Amino acid sequence: MCPSKTTRENTRGGRPYNAGPYLPRSGGLDAHRRAAARCQGCPLHENATRTVFGKGPESARIVLVGEQPGDQEDRRGEPFVGPAGRLLGKALEEAGIDRDEAYVTNAVKHFKFTVAPGGKRRIHKAPDLREISACRPWLLAELRLTRPDVVVALGATAGKALMGSSFRVTKDRGALLRMPGEEEGAYVVATLHPSAILRASDKDREAAYAGLVSDLSVAAKALAECEPSP
Ligand code: URA
Repeated sequence: MCPSKTTRENTRGGRPYNAGPYLPRSGGLDAHRRAAARCQGCPLHENATRTVFGKGPESARIVLVGEQPGDQEDRRGEPFVGPAGRLLGKALEEAGIDRDEAYVTNAVKHFKFTVAPGGKRRIHKAPDLREISACRPWLLAELRLTRPDVVVALGATAGKALMGSSFRVTKDRGALLRMPGEEEGAYVVATLHPSAILRASDKDREAAYAGLVSDLSVAAKALAECEPSP
């Protein structure tokens, strides 16, 4: 029998790309964080320093999902602590979202990079669809445990992890969406990744940043509307 397309695409040397077997059967975020530290669900664990799991309260009503840890996140073990994280913090504040009350995570939990000639700098490399789908069980577990009202997809990778591989942030950013098959679930709002704003030309940066704040404001408004009545 021919192996299915999915099986062929999601294996490497016969080993499946899948974090599923590393997930604990029970427990909260801390148990999942401990288990994720040992994840070998795809080859990215081989070169990264550590797993960077999500951070924030289990009671968070909003979850922010980025792409993958960057260089500084990989060294420090926390999501969004580098330049993109600082920009995100500023935009959240302007949109009226308290970062300390949000759960912040990434679609992919290991840093993927190439080493620059000379061997000093590690250059970010975008995760591919196999890696995104291998890591998805961790993201789904984080969403199951936090049960947020609103999820923000920061950039294309998070958009694909949450909404499916054909999702285009440029097309659907700033709209109130739901994850496919979860019509009663959390709202999803997609927006640009903060790193895309850092990379934008001087000419485009201001408008790109205003767009991020505007999309985050959509999330803030949805959050206010879902507020449990006192
Ligand atoms: N970019 C991301 O997507 N996540 C981080 O944690 C840092 C940079």
